[in-house]
Amino acid sequence: MPGTCVIGLQWGDEAKGKLVDLLAPNFDIVCRFLGGSNAGHTVVTGDTTYKLHLIPSGILNAETTNVIAPGVVLNPGTIIDELNGLTAQGLTTDNLLISERVHVVFPWHIAEDKLLNAKKIKGESIGTTLRGIGPCYRDKVGRSFAIRLGDMYRDDFADRVRSIVEAKNAILIGIGGDDSEPLEAEAIIAEYSGYAAALKSYVRDTTHFMLDAVDDGCSILFEGAQGALLDIDHGTFPFVTSSNSSGVGVSGGSGIPARHINKVIGVIKAYSTRVGGGPFPTEQDNEDGQRLRELGNEYGTTTGRPRRCGWFDAVAVRYTSRLSGATALSLMMMDVISQIPEVKICVAYELDGERITNFPCDADDLRRVKPIYETYAGWDTDLTNTTNYDEFPQAAKDYVARIAELVGVPVEVVSVGPDRAQTIVLTDGVTALAGLNS
Ligand code: GDP
Ligand code: IMO
Ligand code: MG
Repeated sequence: MPGTCVIGLQWGDEAKGKLVDLLAPNFDIVCRFLGGSNAGHTVVTGDTTYKLHLIPSGILNAETTNVIAPGVVLNPGTIIDELNGLTAQGLTTDNLLISERVHVVFPWHIAEDKLLNAKKIKGESIGTTLRGIGPCYRDKVGRSFAIRLGDMYRDDFADRVRSIVEAKNAILIGIGGDDSEPLEAEAIIAEYSGYAAALKSYVRDTTHFMLDAVDDGCSILFEGAQGALLDIDHGTFPFVTSSNSSGVGVSGGSGIPARHINKVIGVIKAYSTRVGGGPFPTEQDNEDGQRLRELGNEYGTTTGRPRRCGWFDAVAVRYTSRLSGATALSLMMMDVISQIPEVKICVAYELDGERITNFPCDADDLRRVKPIYETYAGWDTDLTNTTNYDEFPQAAKDYVARIAELVGVPVEVVSVGPDRAQTIVLTDGVTALAGLNS
Protein backbone atom coordinates (compact mmCIF):
# COMPACT_ATOMS: atom_id res chain seq x y z
CA MET A 1 0.00 0.00 0.00
CA PRO A 2 1.60 3.29 -0.98
CA GLY A 3 1.53 5.96 1.68
CA THR A 4 2.86 9.34 0.59
CA CYS A 5 3.20 12.45 2.75
CA VAL A 6 3.20 16.14 1.90
CA ILE A 7 5.10 18.02 4.61
CA GLY A 8 5.99 21.72 4.82
CA LEU A 9 9.69 22.08 5.59
CA GLN A 10 9.73 25.74 6.63
CA TRP A 11 7.42 27.76 8.92
CA GLY A 12 4.18 26.93 7.11
CA ASP A 13 2.40 28.33 4.04
CA GLU A 14 4.77 26.55 1.66
CA ALA A 15 1.77 25.79 -0.64
CA LYS A 16 1.08 22.30 0.70
CA GLY A 17 -2.59 22.71 -0.26
CA LYS A 18 -1.71 23.26 -3.90
CA LEU A 19 0.41 20.11 -4.03
CA VAL A 20 -2.15 17.95 -2.21
CA ASP A 21 -4.84 19.09 -4.64
CA LEU A 22 -2.60 18.14 -7.56
CA LEU A 23 -1.83 14.68 -6.18
CA ALA A 24 -5.25 13.80 -4.69
CA PRO A 25 -6.82 12.23 -7.81
CA ASN A 26 -4.12 9.53 -7.64
CA PHE A 27 -5.06 8.42 -4.11
CA ASP A 28 -7.97 6.57 -2.54
CA ILE A 29 -7.71 8.60 0.66
CA VAL A 30 -6.34 12.01 1.64
CA CYS A 31 -5.75 12.26 5.39
CA ARG A 32 -5.21 15.41 7.43
CA PHE A 33 -3.52 14.32 10.65
CA LEU A 34 -2.66 17.39 12.77
CA GLY A 35 -3.38 20.99 13.65
CA GLY A 36 -6.68 22.77 13.44
CA SER A 37 -8.13 25.93 12.00
CA ASN A 38 -4.76 27.63 12.51
CA ALA A 39 -3.97 26.19 9.06
CA GLY A 40 -4.98 27.95 5.86
CA HIS A 41 -4.51 26.17 2.55
CA THR A 42 -5.33 27.98 -0.68
CA VAL A 43 -6.10 26.03 -3.82
CA VAL A 44 -6.59 27.80 -7.14
CA THR A 45 -8.08 26.23 -10.27
CA GLY A 46 -8.85 28.59 -13.11
CA ASP A 47 -11.18 31.32 -11.83
CA THR A 48 -12.01 29.55 -8.57
CA THR A 49 -10.13 29.89 -5.30
CA TYR A 50 -10.76 27.59 -2.36
CA LYS A 51 -9.60 28.39 1.16
CA LEU A 52 -9.42 25.37 3.45
CA HIS A 53 -8.62 25.26 7.15
CA LEU A 54 -9.72 21.89 8.49
CA ILE A 55 -10.97 20.00 5.45
CA PRO A 56 -8.22 18.23 3.49
CA SER A 57 -7.33 19.79 0.14
CA GLY A 58 -8.29 16.49 -1.52
CA ILE A 59 -11.96 17.51 -1.14
CA LEU A 60 -11.95 19.08 -4.61
CA ASN A 61 -11.71 15.58 -6.01
CA ALA A 62 -15.05 13.82 -5.52
CA GLU A 63 -13.54 10.34 -6.00
CA THR A 64 -11.15 10.61 -3.04
CA THR A 65 -12.22 9.95 0.55
CA ASN A 66 -11.00 12.75 2.82
CA VAL A 67 -10.26 11.85 6.41
CA ILE A 68 -9.75 14.12 9.40
CA ALA A 69 -7.71 11.91 11.70
CA PRO A 70 -7.40 11.82 15.54
CA GLY A 71 -4.38 14.17 15.68
CA VAL A 72 -6.49 17.14 14.55
CA VAL A 73 -8.18 19.59 16.95
CA LEU A 74 -11.56 20.50 15.54
CA ASN A 75 -13.50 23.72 15.85
CA PRO A 76 -16.96 22.47 14.86
CA GLY A 77 -18.35 25.90 13.99
CA THR A 78 -15.44 26.55 11.65
CA ILE A 79 -15.74 23.26 9.83
CA ILE A 80 -19.49 23.75 9.37
CA ASP A 81 -18.79 27.16 7.78
CA GLU A 82 -16.18 25.53 5.59
CA LEU A 83 -18.56 22.75 4.55
CA ASN A 84 -21.26 25.30 3.71
CA GLY A 85 -18.76 27.35 1.72
CA LEU A 86 -17.70 24.34 -0.35
CA THR A 87 -21.31 23.33 -0.98
CA ALA A 88 -22.04 26.89 -2.13
CA GLN A 89 -19.11 26.53 -4.53
CA GLY A 90 -20.79 23.46 -6.00
CA LEU A 91 -18.63 20.76 -4.40
CA THR A 92 -19.81 17.58 -2.76
CA THR A 93 -18.67 16.98 0.81
CA ASP A 94 -20.15 13.49 1.14
CA ASN A 95 -16.62 12.16 0.78
CA LEU A 96 -15.48 13.55 4.16
CA LEU A 97 -15.00 11.50 7.34
CA ILE A 98 -14.15 13.00 10.72
CA SER A 99 -12.64 10.90 13.47
CA GLU A 100 -14.67 10.59 16.67
CA ARG A 101 -11.28 10.84 18.42
CA VAL A 102 -10.50 14.43 17.39
CA HIS A 103 -10.42 16.86 20.29
CA VAL A 104 -12.91 19.70 20.15
CA VAL A 105 -11.99 23.37 20.42
CA PHE A 106 -14.34 25.17 22.81
CA PRO A 107 -14.77 28.89 23.61
CA TRP A 108 -12.58 28.52 26.73
CA HIS A 109 -9.67 27.47 24.53
CA ILE A 110 -9.99 30.58 22.41
CA ALA A 111 -10.33 32.76 25.51
CA GLU A 112 -7.17 31.20 27.00
CA ASP A 113 -5.29 31.60 23.73
CA LYS A 114 -6.12 35.32 23.66
CA LEU A 115 -5.10 35.87 27.27
CA LEU A 116 -1.87 33.84 27.11
CA ASN A 117 -0.76 35.11 23.72
CA ALA A 118 -0.69 38.62 25.15
CA LYS A 119 2.08 37.46 27.52
CA LYS A 120 5.68 37.42 26.34
CA ILE A 121 8.03 34.44 26.43
CA LYS A 122 11.74 35.13 25.98
CA GLY A 123 10.83 38.76 25.29
CA GLU A 124 8.35 38.06 22.50
CA SER A 125 4.77 36.99 21.95
CA ILE A 126 4.29 33.67 20.11
CA GLY A 127 1.84 35.45 17.86
CA THR A 128 -0.59 32.54 17.63
CA THR A 129 -3.51 32.47 15.23
CA LEU A 130 -5.82 32.87 18.29
CA ARG A 131 -7.78 29.80 17.21
CA GLY A 132 -7.47 28.05 20.60
CA ILE A 133 -5.03 25.48 19.27
CA GLY A 134 -2.44 25.41 22.09
CA PRO A 135 -5.02 25.34 24.92
CA CYS A 136 -6.99 22.55 23.20
CA TYR A 137 -3.87 20.40 22.79
CA ARG A 138 -2.93 21.19 26.38
CA ASP A 139 -6.30 19.90 27.58
CA LYS A 140 -5.92 16.81 25.39
CA VAL A 141 -2.60 15.94 27.01
CA GLY A 142 -3.89 16.98 30.45
CA ARG A 143 -7.04 14.84 29.93
CA SER A 144 -9.17 16.23 32.81
CA PHE A 145 -10.82 19.00 30.75
CA ALA A 146 -10.78 17.34 27.34
CA ILE A 147 -13.80 16.63 25.17
CA ARG A 148 -13.50 14.55 22.00
CA LEU A 149 -15.95 14.74 19.14
CA GLY A 150 -17.42 11.34 20.05
CA ASP A 151 -18.11 12.62 23.60
CA MET A 152 -20.54 15.18 22.19
CA TYR A 153 -22.96 12.37 21.33
CA ARG A 154 -22.96 10.86 24.80
CA ASP A 155 -25.48 11.40 27.58
CA ASP A 156 -23.04 13.06 29.96
CA PHE A 157 -21.94 15.76 27.46
CA ALA A 158 -23.93 18.59 29.04
CA ASP A 159 -22.71 17.72 32.54
CA ARG A 160 -19.11 17.57 31.31
CA VAL A 161 -19.42 21.06 29.83
CA ARG A 162 -20.97 22.40 33.04
CA SER A 163 -18.16 21.09 35.23
CA ILE A 164 -15.43 22.21 32.82
CA VAL A 165 -16.92 25.71 32.48
CA GLU A 166 -16.92 26.08 36.27
CA ALA A 167 -13.22 25.22 36.43
CA LYS A 168 -12.32 27.21 33.33
CA ASN A 169 -14.02 30.38 34.57
CA ALA A 170 -11.80 30.24 37.65
CA ILE A 171 -8.72 29.61 35.49
CA LEU A 172 -9.57 32.45 33.10
CA ILE A 173 -10.00 34.88 35.96
CA GLY A 174 -6.67 33.64 37.33
CA ILE A 175 -4.90 34.34 34.04
CA GLY A 176 -6.78 37.39 32.82
CA GLY A 177 -8.17 39.00 35.96
CA ASP A 178 -11.03 41.41 35.32
CA ASP A 179 -10.40 41.26 31.54
CA SER A 180 -11.94 37.83 31.28
CA GLU A 181 -15.61 37.43 30.44
CA PRO A 182 -17.25 34.52 32.31
CA LEU A 183 -18.37 31.68 30.03
CA GLU A 184 -21.97 30.48 30.14
CA ALA A 185 -22.29 26.72 30.17
CA GLU A 186 -25.93 26.51 28.98
CA ALA A 187 -25.27 28.70 25.93
CA ILE A 188 -22.23 26.59 25.02
CA ILE A 189 -24.17 23.35 25.44
CA ALA A 190 -26.93 24.62 23.13
CA GLU A 191 -24.46 25.88 20.51
CA TYR A 192 -22.33 22.75 20.50
CA SER A 193 -25.32 20.36 20.54
CA GLY A 194 -26.37 22.05 17.29
CA TYR A 195 -22.89 21.50 15.86
CA ALA A 196 -22.93 17.86 16.94
CA ALA A 197 -26.20 17.29 15.10
CA ALA A 198 -24.94 19.03 11.96
CA LEU A 199 -21.73 16.96 11.86
CA LYS A 200 -23.15 13.57 12.83
CA SER A 201 -23.19 12.07 9.35
CA TYR A 202 -19.43 12.69 8.94
CA VAL A 203 -18.31 11.17 12.24
CA ARG A 204 -16.62 7.79 12.10
CA ASP A 205 -13.96 5.64 13.72
CA THR A 206 -11.45 6.66 11.06
CA THR A 207 -8.65 4.66 12.68
CA HIS A 208 -10.31 1.36 11.85
CA PHE A 209 -11.48 2.72 8.51
CA MET A 210 -7.89 3.54 7.52
CA LEU A 211 -6.36 0.38 8.96
CA ASP A 212 -8.87 -1.64 6.94
CA ALA A 213 -8.07 0.51 3.90
CA VAL A 214 -4.33 -0.25 4.11
CA ASP A 215 -5.10 -3.96 4.52
CA ASP A 216 -7.18 -3.71 1.35
CA GLY A 217 -4.26 -2.12 -0.52
CA CYS A 218 -5.69 1.41 -0.72
CA SER A 219 -3.34 4.35 -1.23
CA ILE A 220 -3.21 7.23 1.24
CA LEU A 221 -1.89 10.75 0.86
CA PHE A 222 -1.08 12.35 4.20
CA GLU A 223 -1.62 16.12 4.14
CA GLY A 224 0.63 18.10 6.47
CA ALA A 225 -0.37 21.37 8.06
CA GLN A 226 1.91 24.08 9.46
CA GLY A 227 5.63 23.50 8.77
CA ALA A 228 8.35 21.37 10.31
CA LEU A 229 10.05 24.36 11.96
CA LEU A 230 6.82 24.85 13.95
CA ASP A 231 6.97 21.27 15.30
CA ILE A 232 6.33 21.21 19.07
CA ASP A 233 9.29 18.89 19.78
CA HIS A 234 11.71 19.67 16.96
CA GLY A 235 10.93 23.23 15.88
CA THR A 236 11.96 26.66 17.12
CA PHE A 237 10.45 26.13 20.57
CA PRO A 238 8.64 27.96 22.20
CA PHE A 239 7.74 29.77 18.97
CA VAL A 240 6.00 26.76 17.51
CA THR A 241 2.52 25.29 17.20
CA SER A 242 1.30 22.61 19.62
CA SER A 243 1.58 19.45 17.52
CA ASN A 244 4.20 17.45 15.59
CA SER A 245 4.04 19.28 12.28
CA SER A 246 7.18 17.70 10.80
CA GLY A 247 7.17 14.30 9.10
CA VAL A 248 7.58 12.55 12.45
CA GLY A 249 3.96 13.41 13.29
CA VAL A 250 2.31 11.46 10.49
CA SER A 251 1.90 8.10 12.23
CA GLY A 252 0.91 9.50 15.61
CA GLY A 253 -1.70 11.83 14.21
CA SER A 254 -3.19 9.50 11.60
CA GLY A 255 -2.99 6.14 13.38
CA ILE A 256 -1.24 4.51 10.43
CA PRO A 257 2.09 2.79 11.23
CA ALA A 258 5.24 4.23 9.70
CA ARG A 259 5.94 1.07 7.71
CA HIS A 260 3.10 2.06 5.35
CA ILE A 261 4.80 5.33 4.41
CA ASN A 262 7.14 5.07 1.47
CA LYS A 263 7.42 8.59 0.10
CA VAL A 264 7.71 11.99 1.75
CA ILE A 265 7.49 15.11 -0.39
CA GLY A 266 8.93 18.13 1.39
CA VAL A 267 7.31 21.37 0.24
CA ILE A 268 9.47 24.50 0.23
CA LYS A 269 9.26 28.01 -1.08
CA ALA A 270 12.14 29.41 -3.10
CA TYR A 271 12.56 31.87 -0.19
CA SER A 272 11.35 31.83 3.43
CA THR A 273 8.36 33.22 5.29
CA ARG A 274 7.16 33.13 8.86
CA VAL A 275 3.99 34.44 10.55
CA GLY A 276 4.01 35.36 14.24
CA GLY A 277 6.95 35.64 16.62
CA GLY A 278 10.22 33.76 16.95
CA PRO A 279 13.70 33.67 15.45
CA PHE A 280 14.05 33.84 11.68
CA PRO A 281 17.76 33.98 10.74
CA THR A 282 17.37 34.96 7.07
CA GLU A 283 14.56 37.48 7.62
CA GLN A 284 14.80 40.61 5.50
CA ASP A 285 12.98 43.28 7.44
CA ASN A 286 13.76 45.73 4.66
CA GLU A 287 13.01 46.48 1.00
CA ASP A 288 14.03 42.98 -0.13
CA GLY A 289 11.56 41.41 2.29
CA GLN A 290 8.86 43.87 1.27
CA ARG A 291 9.43 43.02 -2.40
CA LEU A 292 9.08 39.28 -1.69
CA ARG A 293 5.91 39.98 0.30
CA GLU A 294 4.28 41.99 -2.48
CA LEU A 295 5.37 39.71 -5.34
CA GLY A 296 4.41 36.56 -3.45
CA ASN A 297 1.23 38.08 -1.96
CA GLU A 298 2.54 36.95 1.41
CA TYR A 299 -0.44 37.66 3.65
CA GLY A 300 -1.84 34.91 5.90
CA THR A 301 -4.69 32.73 4.57
CA THR A 302 -6.12 32.39 8.08
CA THR A 303 -5.40 35.69 9.83
CA GLY A 304 -4.52 38.03 6.93
CA ARG A 305 -1.33 39.05 8.77
CA PRO A 306 1.61 40.17 6.59
CA ARG A 307 4.11 37.29 6.54
CA ARG A 308 7.70 38.01 7.50
CA CYS A 309 9.88 37.31 4.45
CA GLY A 310 13.54 36.42 3.87
CA TRP A 311 16.01 34.39 1.84
CA PHE A 312 15.99 30.62 1.42
CA ASP A 313 17.62 28.97 4.43
CA ALA A 314 19.33 25.72 3.45
CA VAL A 315 20.54 25.07 7.02
CA ALA A 316 16.97 25.02 8.29
CA VAL A 317 15.55 23.03 5.37
CA ARG A 318 18.33 20.44 5.38
CA TYR A 319 17.48 19.85 9.05
CA THR A 320 13.70 19.58 8.54
CA SER A 321 14.13 17.49 5.42
CA ARG A 322 16.21 14.94 7.34
CA LEU A 323 13.83 15.07 10.30
CA SER A 324 10.82 14.52 8.06
CA GLY A 325 12.44 11.81 5.96
CA ALA A 326 11.89 13.78 2.75
CA THR A 327 12.65 11.78 -0.38
CA ALA A 328 11.62 14.52 -2.82
CA LEU A 329 11.24 18.29 -2.79
CA SER A 330 8.48 20.43 -4.28
CA LEU A 331 9.90 23.89 -4.88
CA MET A 332 7.19 26.56 -4.97
CA MET A 333 7.10 30.26 -5.87
CA MET A 334 9.78 30.06 -8.54
CA ASP A 335 7.85 32.80 -10.37
CA VAL A 336 8.30 35.10 -7.38
CA ILE A 337 12.04 34.62 -6.89
CA SER A 338 12.47 35.04 -10.67
CA GLN A 339 11.53 38.70 -10.36
CA ILE A 340 14.18 39.53 -7.76
CA PRO A 341 17.30 41.33 -9.12
CA GLU A 342 19.77 39.57 -6.80
CA VAL A 343 18.95 36.45 -4.80
CA LYS A 344 20.62 34.80 -1.82
CA ILE A 345 20.73 31.34 -0.29
CA CYS A 346 21.88 30.83 3.29
CA VAL A 347 24.35 27.92 3.23
CA ALA A 348 25.63 28.02 6.83
CA TYR A 349 25.41 30.06 10.02
CA GLU A 350 28.10 31.71 12.09
CA LEU A 351 27.59 31.31 15.83
CA ASP A 352 30.13 32.71 18.31
CA GLY A 353 32.74 32.94 15.54
CA GLU A 354 32.23 29.35 14.41
CA ARG A 355 30.71 28.21 11.09
CA ILE A 356 27.89 25.72 11.72
CA THR A 357 25.55 23.80 9.43
CA ASN A 358 23.48 22.07 12.11
CA PHE A 359 20.30 23.96 13.02
CA PRO A 360 20.61 25.11 16.68
CA CYS A 361 18.10 23.87 19.24
CA ASP A 362 17.77 27.00 21.36
CA ALA A 363 15.69 29.95 20.20
CA ASP A 364 18.14 32.42 21.75
CA ASP A 365 21.07 30.86 19.87
CA LEU A 366 19.03 30.95 16.69
CA ARG A 367 18.42 34.65 17.25
CA ARG A 368 22.19 35.21 17.47
CA VAL A 369 23.31 33.29 14.37
CA LYS A 370 24.61 35.24 11.38
CA PRO A 371 23.59 33.69 8.06
CA ILE A 372 26.38 32.99 5.56
CA TYR A 373 25.03 33.61 2.07
CA GLU A 374 25.77 32.71 -1.50
CA THR A 375 24.60 35.49 -3.79
CA TYR A 376 23.33 35.01 -7.32
CA ALA A 377 22.42 37.50 -10.04
CA GLY A 378 18.69 37.25 -10.72
CA TRP A 379 17.34 36.04 -14.06
CA ASP A 380 14.50 38.56 -14.48
CA THR A 381 12.26 36.19 -16.44
CA ASP A 382 8.50 35.75 -16.27
CA LEU A 383 8.06 32.01 -15.64
CA THR A 384 4.31 32.09 -14.96
CA ASN A 385 3.40 30.62 -18.36
CA THR A 386 6.29 28.18 -18.55
CA THR A 387 5.18 24.56 -18.74
CA ASN A 388 8.48 22.93 -19.68
CA TYR A 389 11.46 22.93 -17.33
CA ASP A 390 13.83 22.97 -20.32
CA GLU A 391 12.62 26.53 -20.97
CA PHE A 392 13.86 27.75 -17.59
CA PRO A 393 16.85 30.14 -17.87
CA GLN A 394 20.09 28.44 -16.87
CA ALA A 395 20.42 30.73 -13.82
CA ALA A 396 17.02 29.55 -12.55
CA LYS A 397 18.01 25.91 -13.09
CA ASP A 398 21.25 26.56 -11.21
CA TYR A 399 19.26 27.98 -8.30
CA VAL A 400 17.02 24.90 -8.21
CA ALA A 401 20.02 22.55 -8.47
CA ARG A 402 21.87 24.35 -5.67
CA ILE A 403 18.89 24.01 -3.33
CA ALA A 404 18.64 20.28 -4.12
CA GLU A 405 22.37 19.87 -3.52
CA LEU A 406 22.38 21.73 -0.20
CA VAL A 407 19.32 19.91 1.12
CA GLY A 408 20.51 16.60 -0.30
CA VAL A 409 17.16 15.66 -1.85
CA PRO A 410 16.03 15.90 -5.50
CA VAL A 411 13.52 18.51 -6.62
CA GLU A 412 10.62 16.70 -8.30
CA VAL A 413 8.17 19.59 -8.72
CA VAL A 414 8.62 23.25 -9.56
CA SER A 415 5.71 25.65 -9.14
CA VAL A 416 5.46 28.87 -11.14
CA GLY A 417 2.14 30.32 -9.95
CA PRO A 418 -0.86 29.63 -7.70
CA ASP A 419 -2.97 27.84 -10.31
CA ARG A 420 -3.07 24.05 -10.44
CA ALA A 421 -1.93 24.33 -14.06
CA GLN A 422 1.18 26.34 -13.11
CA THR A 423 3.03 23.28 -11.88
CA ILE A 424 5.93 21.55 -13.61
CA VAL A 425 6.43 17.93 -12.62
CA LEU A 426 10.01 16.80 -13.19
CA THR A 427 9.37 13.09 -12.68
CA ASP A 428 7.94 10.82 -15.33
CA GLY A 429 4.36 11.98 -14.73
CA VAL A 430 2.26 12.70 -11.63
CA THR A 431 1.90 8.99 -10.78
CA ALA A 432 5.65 8.72 -10.30
CA LEU A 433 5.64 11.93 -8.25
CA ALA A 434 2.85 10.48 -6.11
CA GLY A 435 5.12 7.51 -5.36
CA LEU A 436 2.71 5.06 -6.98
CA ASN A 437 5.11 3.53 -9.49
CA SER A 438 7.31 1.70 -7.01
P1 GDP B 1 -0.17 26.12 2.68
O1 GDP B 1 -0.67 26.56 4.01
O2 GDP B 1 1.15 25.44 2.74
O3 GDP B 1 -1.18 25.29 1.92
O4 GDP B 1 0.06 27.44 1.83
P2 GDP B 1 -0.92 28.70 1.72
O5 GDP B 1 -2.06 28.33 0.85
O6 GDP B 1 -1.23 29.27 3.06
O7 GDP B 1 0.02 29.75 1.02
C1 GDP B 1 0.55 29.57 -0.25
C2 GDP B 1 0.03 30.70 -1.16
O8 GDP B 1 0.81 30.75 -2.34
C3 GDP B 1 -1.39 30.50 -1.63
O9 GDP B 1 -2.02 31.77 -1.74
C4 GDP B 1 -1.23 29.84 -2.99
O10 GDP B 1 -2.34 30.11 -3.84
C5 GDP B 1 0.00 30.54 -3.50
N1 GDP B 1 0.89 29.75 -4.39
C6 GDP B 1 1.08 28.41 -4.44
N2 GDP B 1 2.08 28.10 -5.30
C7 GDP B 1 2.50 29.27 -5.82
C8 GDP B 1 3.51 29.61 -6.76
O11 GDP B 1 4.25 28.79 -7.28
N3 GDP B 1 3.65 30.94 -7.05
C9 GDP B 1 2.87 31.90 -6.50
N4 GDP B 1 3.07 33.16 -6.86
N5 GDP B 1 1.92 31.62 -5.58
C10 GDP B 1 1.75 30.32 -5.25
P1 IMO C 1 -0.45 26.30 7.36
O1 IMO C 1 -1.01 24.91 7.46
C1 IMO C 1 1.88 29.54 9.09
C2 IMO C 1 2.04 29.74 13.47
C3 IMO C 1 1.39 30.97 14.05
C4 IMO C 1 2.24 31.16 15.30
C5 IMO C 1 2.52 29.72 15.72
C6 IMO C 1 1.61 29.21 16.82
O2 IMO C 1 -1.33 27.25 6.64
O3 IMO C 1 0.95 26.26 6.85
P2 IMO C 1 -0.95 28.47 16.81
O4 IMO C 1 -2.20 29.24 16.46
O5 IMO C 1 -0.74 27.24 16.00
O6 IMO C 1 -0.83 28.21 18.29
O7 IMO C 1 0.26 29.49 16.48
O8 IMO C 1 2.35 28.92 14.57
N1 IMO C 1 1.18 28.96 12.55
C7 IMO C 1 1.27 29.00 11.22
N2 IMO C 1 2.03 29.76 10.41
N3 IMO C 1 1.05 28.63 8.55
C8 IMO C 1 0.30 27.85 9.35
O9 IMO C 1 -0.44 26.82 8.88
C9 IMO C 1 0.35 28.04 10.75
N4 IMO C 1 -0.26 27.46 11.80
C10 IMO C 1 0.27 28.02 12.89
O10 IMO C 1 1.48 32.08 13.18
O11 IMO C 1 3.47 31.74 14.95
MG1 MG D 1 -1.22 28.34 4.94
